[in-house]
Amino acid sequence: MTTTAAPSTARTGPARATFTHPGVAFGCDWNPEQWDRSVWREDVRLMRDAGVDLVAVNVFGWSQVEPRPGEYDFRDLDEVMDLLAEHGVRANLGTGTASTPPWLTTRHPEVLPVAEDGTTRWPGGRQAWCPSSPVFRERSLALVEQVARRYGDHPALALWHVSNELGCHNALCYCDTSAAAFRRWLRDRYGDVGALNAAWGTTFWSQRYGTFDEVLPPRATLSTRNPGQVLDFQRFSSDELLGQLRAETAVLRAHSAAPVTTNFMVTDHIRDLDYFAWAPHVDVVANDHYLDHRLADPTTELAFSADLTRGVAGGAPWLLMEHSTGAVNWQPVNLVKGPGEMLRNSLTHVARGADGVCFFQWRASTQGSEKFHSALVPHAGTASRQWREVLELGATLDRLDEVAGSRVQADVAVLFGWESWWAVDGENVPSTAVRYREQVLAAYAALRAQGVTVDVVSPSAPLDGYRVVVVPALYLVRDEEAAAVARFVEAGGTALVTFWSGIADERDAVRLGGYPGAFRDLLGVRVEEVAPVLPGDVLTLDTGQRARLWSERSEAVGADVLARFADGPAAGDPAITRRAAGLGSAWYVATALEAPDLADLAGRVLADAGVATDPALAAAGVERVVRAAADGRRWTFLVNHSTTDVALPARGYELVTDTAVAGELVVPGGAVRVLREEPVR
Ligand code: GAL
Repeated sequence: MTTTAAPSTARTGPARATFTHPGVAFGCDWNPEQWDRSVWREDVRLMRDAGVDLVAVNVFGWSQVEPRPGEYDFRDLDEVMDLLAEHGVRANLGTGTASTPPWLTTRHPEVLPVAEDGTTRWPGGRQAWCPSSPVFRERSLALVEQVARRYGDHPALALWHVSNELGCHNALCYCDTSAAAFRRWLRDRYGDVGALNAAWGTTFWSQRYGTFDEVLPPRATLSTRNPGQVLDFQRFSSDELLGQLRAETAVLRAHSAAPVTTNFMVTDHIRDLDYFAWAPHVDVVANDHYLDHRLADPTTELAFSADLTRGVAGGAPWLLMEHSTGAVNWQPVNLVKGPGEMLRNSLTHVARGADGVCFFQWRASTQGSEKFHSALVPHAGTASRQWREVLELGATLDRLDEVAGSRVQADVAVLFGWESWWAVDGENVPSTAVRYREQVLAAYAALRAQGVTVDVVSPSAPLDGYRVVVVPALYLVRDEEAAAVARFVEAGGTALVTFWSGIADERDAVRLGGYPGAFRDLLGVRVEEVAPVLPGDVLTLDTGQRARLWSERSEAVGADVLARFADGPAAGDPAITRRAAGLGSAWYVATALEAPDLADLAGRVLADAGVATDPALAAAGVERVVRAAADGRRWTFLVNHSTTDVALPARGYELVTDTAVAGELVVPGGAVRVLREEPVR
């Protein structure tokens, strides 16, 4: 049946809903529209076999469900939703707005995004829409309204999936519509143009604006651009897409009581959206994560991203909305997963707070640009290692159901801010070899090497309850955020701050009087000059430790100097310091220590704070993370990344193998074990 858009009959729904699921969810994207109907029944039957119980549909459905403007055809989607309900598989229903149908951009080419050099990004791929386009907003919300009204009470509906990876490709649009929206955003933020001029420091290079109408997005220029303008454009772009999420969500909530989410991309290579600001607008945080084999250590990045997703979720359980059973299709060389690796990666996310493990996608496509992306059902079919591992994962997740709802326990926090990411990786900085995420990951890896669990949280997160707070390269920091770190230390906490922190305020204006500006008094160090070195150069400290990238000409003002630069442009000056402050202590490292030395320093800082470490377990390749339920039950996840069996003293019940443990638990090489601890009597 083809229906025409009916007028809105919005009802007043509850403001917020909670996502509940029986146990740990196991799911995937399902794109039945790519397949003949005869395959659909086999698909749902296989889903049941594997224990798949949460399936994302209609994610890229727009051109199917609205083949012509205002004409909706839900016949296929009706059948798909009914089929899911019949088989007890829950739907994670896409609003379908992720990618525009050709009719929309043909009729309204002004919807297309424009790159910073003024060139249009054409349809033919996906997500070719400008986040500020009023036409896109109107047409997409009309679709959401139809979908919400039709399926808002459907028995299969478990969760709304707004759009898909908002901003994956189109976060930054420089078209005239975006320019006008940027000006509106700036007017709201600054009120008058004088305040904007002050915030951006426009007396520099004759950039002073007479009116808001003269302001443009930071389009391609001959020289480098105004950093304040670039930073605000990043903020604006994140807010603009958040506006799309909020608008779709409002329509959904008006017609349906089901919870709403969208898939975030807390990962290394996407940096445009400030998810700390987004999280309050979804009912459950969901994240997509793919191992990035372009990185030196993809597994550490996986653990970090999972911990950051939990931080974004405010510590609450979250959903892994997508990862892959094997190779992806978008890296230069797409590596397969080794035996057991998919299960290990999946359970690493669960260990770090995920209450669901989902994949892209159910069945490998035969056409389209993702046809060589792995799936739960590969091209080879179910007579395959991949499918057997999918069955094993499904069975394992079933046995872990009892951990759902519990929370990860951590004594250590790492502060992470998207604004610092945007600013540190900007133009005209002391060294382009200093990349924000790399510096944060280096600190994280050092803590991981000590076997401690880390919460990765916003610079404005509450710090009470932690024993150690690590502040890596937090270049852009607000006064109140720096003050919170100082209060944390005064009250008995231990902070470790790394170089290029505290430098600028929220306008990206440098704090005067010596670096590291906002943390100078707390750390008792005054830096006169930063002195980066060439990426290949090695710096030596008088303790024998080695470092790279960075040194500082500084003096200790109240801090104890634990190591000095022995060579390089800052020879003789402090490299590692510690200052006792109030009941706690504040450590500073003024260079990028090599990994083993940074791990060693992390060990000393943790010992200083009385945090228990287990570097031997970490060195054996085993990650250990504890989740605890409100009723006191605790589960210890042990993920063995090595090829060697590791034995640990343990007592309780092991969920993966379904066996009691009385004295010793062996975690075989490459395997994961989840121990329900015996309650302390
Ligand atoms: C995600 C996206 C999916 C699919 C997947 C491939 O970015 O949400 O639709 O493209 O990547 O890895």
